[in-house]
Amino acid sequence: MRTGPSCPVSPGRATSADVQLLCETSPAWVKLALECFDQVLVDHAHCEKKAAAHALSMLAAFPDVPGLPRAMARLAREEAGHLAKVLALLESRGLSLGRDGGDPYAKGLQELMRHGSRERRLETKTRQQRTKGLRGKVRWDG
Ligand SMILES: [Fe+2]
Repeated sequence: MRTGPSCPVSPGRATSADVQLLCETSPAWVKLALECFDQVLVDHAHCEKKAAAHALSMLAAFPDVPGLPRAMARLAREEAGHLAKVLALLESRGLSLGRDGGDPYAKGLQELMRHGSRERRLETKTRQQRTKGLRGKVRWDG
């Protein structure tokens, strides 16, 4: 079992020992990430921002799904907390968030997704069915 250093943003939270990866992390990727650590932190901040914003957009899109609005509000608060921590790290390193140039890979994936409220909800349901291993662990009513 591999173990990694504690996350500086969320000490005591999930480590590599808690996550079952499907493949080993490429040493070349780790080397590159460490060489470009400031850029990784900025990207991480944008990811936290998007996670919080997406939770709020799900809340706005599906206000009538039982349990979902509260769960999304909780998620948005949690992700906004992560964002605040990463922003503090950026500031401590003399970095600024800057504009998000976007990720061509993520844009490509989004183009493959269905659009529209009904279709978006279907997309979410389909994703849930693909992650049956998480059944019972992911709850909207907790
Ligand atoms: Fe997060």
